[in-house]
Amino acid sequence: MLVQEEDYLFDTEFTIATKTIHKTCDQAYGAVNPPIYMSSTFELKDVDSFGKGYFYTRCGNPTRTVVEEIVAEIEQNNYAIAFSSGMAAIHCVINLLKEGDEMLAMDDLYGGTIGYLKAIAMEKHGIKVKFVDMTNIDEVRKHMNQNVQLVYLETPTNPTMKLTDIKELCQVVRQIKNNVIVAVDNTFATPYLQTPSNLGADITLNSGTKYLGGHSDIIFGTLSCRNKELHDALFKISYLTGGCPSPFDCYLVTRSLKTLEVRMKQQIKNAYILAKYLESHPKVEKVLYPGLESHPQHDLARKQMRAGGAMISFYIKGGAAEAERMMKGLELFTMAVSLGGVESLIQIPAKMTHSGLTEERRQELGITQNLIRLSAGLEHVSDLIKDLEHGFKNI
Ligand SMILES: Cc1ncc(COP(=O)(O)O)c(C=O)c1O
Repeated sequence: MLVQEEDYLFDTEFTIATKTIHKTCDQAYGAVNPPIYMSSTFELKDVDSFGKGYFYTRCGNPTRTVVEEIVAEIEQNNYAIAFSSGMAAIHCVINLLKEGDEMLAMDDLYGGTIGYLKAIAMEKHGIKVKFVDMTNIDEVRKHMNQNVQLVYLETPTNPTMKLTDIKELCQVVRQIKNNVIVAVDNTFATPYLQTPSNLGADITLNSGTKYLGGHSDIIFGTLSCRNKELHDALFKISYLTGGCPSPFDCYLVTRSLKTLEVRMKQQIKNAYILAKYLESHPKVEKVLYPGLESHPQHDLARKQMRAGGAMISFYIKGGAAEAERMMKGLELFTMAVSLGGVESLIQIPAKMTHSGLTEERRQELGITQNLIRLSAGLEHVSDLIKDLEHGFKNI
């Protein structure tokens, strides 16, 4: 299938490559890559220098500063904080709240985030979390009130690819409470495809384990924001709770960010071709991909994203048995959770990433036994199609 950039990119002009490639030159010797400062502590010049500059790596490290500056810039924010995982970044944001505070959370979130909100935020810390379908802005309006401190969402969602209109959501919640904090988990979209800060979000968050790292070799997290006061509050939580990344991992993410745009472009192209192939396949019931015109929120995708992304979910005809036989027939796709790496991954959310939800909840969200999620990698797309064909023949 011959496709042009215009087919799979809604905005062919946008670029972040220069920013990710040219921000890493080392001041001391002009090395084009930043040194890895593998040091937990730093010599203090005198007793008064404690707490100023770098003094202890949990509170800051020069290799970490490089990745934080790049992330802040490409997310069009002023500050960024790097973490040892996406969950550590999420933990940091939720810790802005205290017992009795209220938050609205998208009803369709990464399973680990839902688990954290229920088992830690609600049960242990007494935070009141209301799960709301944010694709429906009237639902947000209905549940928003003066006590809500934080509105937390993902768009697109995992695995059903639902979108929330970030701009409209920010306007609606701020009409009710001006200083409510809006945080967007941008993991599926990445800074290349979506800039929540320009749409009104206060915090942009990433599981850097996914596209930012891009090679399935590290666990990492980031958040970024524009407001200094908010940054200072988040930074304090980050160093007191200790989810800081290793300088080596910061180096790896800095390295990977240089190819984020080129990887994303190719992965999106592959995903678009795969989505079209799947959509026309007789054994597929429905494809969920924001880049397809058949996606119910395709217009919104065009408005707030720069392409449909590299994640696809699809329902195959049949049930659990058919989905499993399809998976068994694959040789190239790796059956694994996670996403965003150079290799194509595939999984059954009901059995894997979303197995922690009740069957009833999965049904409500559309996470049925015949739903398959794939992360398009960088292999030649015709090899990926051949592999899916093997899978379908196995049903
Ligand atoms: C959308 C999303 N947010 C956050 C996380 C958590 O990130 P990590 O696994 O890096 O802690 C994940 C993990 O899969 C995710 O998919």
